[in-house]
Amino acid sequence: MTEEWQDQIQKIVEAGELLQGTLSQLRRKDSAAASKTVVRPVQLKNGLHLQFEYHYSNKVTHDNVKPELAGARMIELLEGDYKQALFKTTNADIQLLFNKKGKATLLSKQPTGSAKAAADLQHNRQKNRILAEGTAAPFLVELGIMTKDGAVHAKKQDKYRQINRFLEMVTDVLPSLPADKPLTIVDFGCGKSYLTFALYHLLAVEQKREISIIGLDLKADVIAFCQELADKLGYDKLKFLVGDIADYEELNEADMVVTLHACDTATDAALAKAVKWGASVIMSVPCCQHELFRQVDSEVLSPILSQGLLKERFSALATDAARGTLLEVLGYKVQMLEFVDPEHTPKNLLIRAVRSGQGGSKEKWEQYEQFRSFLHISPSLEQMLSDLWPTSIKK
Ligand SMILES: C[S@@+](CC[C@H](N)C(=O)[O-])C[C@H]1O[C@@H](n2cnc3c(N)ncnc32)[C@H](O)[C@@H]1O
Repeated sequence: MTEEWQDQIQKIVEAGELLQGTLSQLRRKDSAAASKTVVRPVQLKNGLHLQFEYHYSNKVTHDNVKPELAGARMIELLEGDYKQALFKTTNADIQLLFNKKGKATLLSKQPTGSAKAAADLQHNRQKNRILAEGTAAPFLVELGIMTKDGAVHAKKQDKYRQINRFLEMVTDVLPSLPADKPLTIVDFGCGKSYLTFALYHLLAVEQKREISIIGLDLKADVIAFCQELADKLGYDKLKFLVGDIADYEELNEADMVVTLHACDTATDAALAKAVKWGASVIMSVPCCQHELFRQVDSEVLSPILSQGLLKERFSALATDAARGTLLEVLGYKVQMLEFVDPEHTPKNLLIRAVRSGQGGSKEKWEQYEQFRSFLHISPSLEQMLSDLWPTSIKK
């Protein structure tokens, strides 16, 4: 005869109500089992499965199990390895505890409003992601983010979310790109190029747009890897080149410039190129904004500037504020967006600039000048674009 807790697990799984199950607290200290197992629904090409994610001290493995077998698997794990479990379901949070004699207690409580909302949100996000789980995008498989079945590797969840977030932000501004000609896109400081491949996949493969993408980076070995992968995937309009952003002279115009985590003033070099090429869209996630840290000086701000950490954060914000304002001076509409959750990386600010075609703004220039003189700074981007400041703006 089955016990109540076993029936409960089978019922939740059969009704499709399980949002997440966490099995924990090993029964034996010397157990070779995973210290924790997390179970979640995943939509794969061949239907809904429950993904068992096994957390060992030095690795995480996972296994996709058909729903009809998943209840039995959880019961087996609980009988053999674990003393407790928490099942978050659509209707309740159910806790299962075994005492020393192995007797089970079930506690059920209403999920909090926010937990339920978060679960719904997660579910909706999952459903609406541009690169959905369950559909294996070849580049994600090659880059080790997805399995051939379209399941996302446990350790690559953050990268997967970041790529989707980036594509969402690109999708928002696609109407600002020219529709009547092939697009030229440049990714400066492309590194391993997850996002460059993602852009190509979205625009050339999914949307069948005529595009050419260039990825540029200083590192020859990384560029060779990326080019090999582009060739393998048949992405024939995706080219990778070795070079320094500041010295790149092969183009006269580009429609979109991307620069993600290009260090310090490498971001400014990329922004300057983008502006000079008349790029309609610029997507830039700056990092290592050291330049103004060495320059910024203000008596009034000494409570911030006398603390190294605060000064560093303030300088980074001031750098990006100056960049954003200079782009506005030149007629770009600028938004500062959160790129990925701050818990994943502090480098989470994305400057999205869309050319408005309305020309420069004297008012913005004056705002910039006041900001610059108040902080006693001399940002590289202003100097890199010195030939662009029209007299009407500079007075
Ligand atoms: C932190 S990695 C980011 C890579 C990739 N964009 C990403 O977000 O995953 C920064 C990359 O910028 C490249 N880089 C830095 N300065 C550069 C420069 N002046 N010219 C070209 N590439 C540069 C580095 O070689 C490195 O690969």
